[in-house]
Amino acid sequence: MIHAEHLRHVYKSSSGDKVALDDVSFTIKAGEFVAIIGTNGSGKSTLAKHFNALLLPTDGKIFVNGLDTAQEENLWHVREKVGMVFQNPDSEIVAAIVEDDVAFGLENLGIAPDKIRERVDLALDAVNMTDYKKFAPSKLSGGQKQRIAIAGVIAMQTKIIVLDEPTAMLDPQGRREVLELVKRLHAQGKTIIYITHFMEEAANAQRVFVMESGRIIRDGTPREIFTDVKEMKRLGLDVPVAVEIAERLRRKGFKLPQKILTPEELADALKNL
Ligand SMILES: Nc1ncnc2c1ncn2[C@@H]1O[C@H](COP(=O)(O)OP(=O)(O)OP(=O)(O)O)[C@@H](O)[C@H]1O
Ligand SMILES: [Mg+2]
Repeated sequence: MIHAEHLRHVYKSSSGDKVALDDVSFTIKAGEFVAIIGTNGSGKSTLAKHFNALLLPTDGKIFVNGLDTAQEENLWHVREKVGMVFQNPDSEIVAAIVEDDVAFGLENLGIAPDKIRERVDLALDAVNMTDYKKFAPSKLSGGQKQRIAIAGVIAMQTKIIVLDEPTAMLDPQGRREVLELVKRLHAQGKTIIYITHFMEEAANAQRVFVMESGRIIRDGTPREIFTDVKEMKRLGLDVPVAVEIAERLRRKGFKLPQKILTPEELADALKNL
């Protein structure tokens, strides 16, 4: 479980202070799949970095499984529980061979070499990259690199996985691969926190946080959030394509139900007309 109470983050610099998180409170239950959306600069990445104590609150608190991330003695326990995947796959790769890269985090935990090999094999299998075990990461596609980065997190066996725009630099095929993998990890019981600018991806979550100017201004199911098209437009955010098409058809006089979210629902609604 993750619990934030009046979380505030201020970046201090010579050119002035920047409030990036402003009075953010929420609880995320174990096993939940939460997507975080919001325009550029709304504070998503700053929040992500509080989940594993890469940043500490300026004010307020965040607890990971009851552990206050700001207490130094909790740091390693918190990092053991939360795996992070970032946007740029190239900056996450640290080793010259795929299997060494996946093993990297484990080697720092003092785990026995045969155990490490076992966990790395399982993790590579989980992301369908076993055949690339001996490859140089530089020879992989962006989507494959992201799967290797996720394998590194799987090998660490963290219960919580935070992904900050993991598909931003990928082509459609790579995006699909990563999203399918994330859905599978959620089905296996992992807590997923998934930051994205792709609304179709966010629609797969159970819950969506909408951020604006350092605050979480909406917290609801994808259906609640995305079918409020007016509010999404006001925030400068897109809606999933099925929501957009349904809205345009309504404007042209088609009598469609209000809460259409997916292409399947749109197809069914049109068939029923
Ligand atoms: N290291 C930093 N120093 C100063 N200000 C920062 C720093 N990092 C981020 N900010 C500022 O804090 C605010 C929130 O930034 P953050 O990166 O969390 O936004 P974001 O929602 O992740 O945006 P994006 O969608 O572009 O990734 C922005 O105004 C940003 O300019
Ligand atoms: Mg960001």
